[in-house]
Amino acid sequence: MSVDLAPECERFSGLIGRWSGRGSGDFPTIEPFEYLEEVTFSHMGRPFVVYAQKTRRAGTGEPLHTEVGYLRPVGEHGVEMLITQPTGISEIHTGTIGDGVMDLRSVGVCATPTAKQVDEVTRRFVLEGDSLGYEMHMAAVGQPLQFHLRAQLKRMD
Ligand code: HEM
Repeated sequence: MSVDLAPECERFSGLIGRWSGRGSGDFPTIEPFEYLEEVTFSHMGRPFVVYAQKTRRAGTGEPLHTEVGYLRPVGEHGVEMLITQPTGISEIHTGTIGDGVMDLRSVGVCATPTAKQVDEVTRRFVLEGDSLGYEMHMAAVGQPLQFHLRAQLKRMD
């Protein structure tokens, strides 16, 4: 049974669906890499959007990073995002959405005792019709806030 998007989630309507594409990543402590990505934003009629992402290494197809989370509407143009990763890290973000741009900055990053150290994360999504791009920066493993990921996705449905 399909349900209507909650009115508060109208700001996320352009994101709802399945996306796939390609990205690249880097950080001072690692080798640069390229990856393939699939993302789904879905909803169940309640005032939040469900986010699910998985990636594979370009070339070999080896599974890489994956994460799940939620987008929550706040006020007129606000957004909160929660993201959890099997690497033991959870990000809590606040930000804004408007004119096809969603800007997020972490207000907290929590890690399990065995996870790598991640102190801060920023994420920016740019939606242009059936194209969705994003960049992710992080302060981690003793390095200041800087680029880790960039990807460009196309709508699959
Ligand atoms: C598209 C999503 C992502 C991909 C494909 C990806 C991929 C990678 C790869 C290939 C490495 C190199 C080392 C390794 O193989 O483990 C790495 C390192 C790392 N990534 Fe990511 N990553 C992603 C998202 C994230 C996110 C969301 C975070 C943090 C919130 C993160 C934090 C780290 C950290 C802390 C390291 C280790 C750096 C080090 O030990 O020197 N990554 N990532």
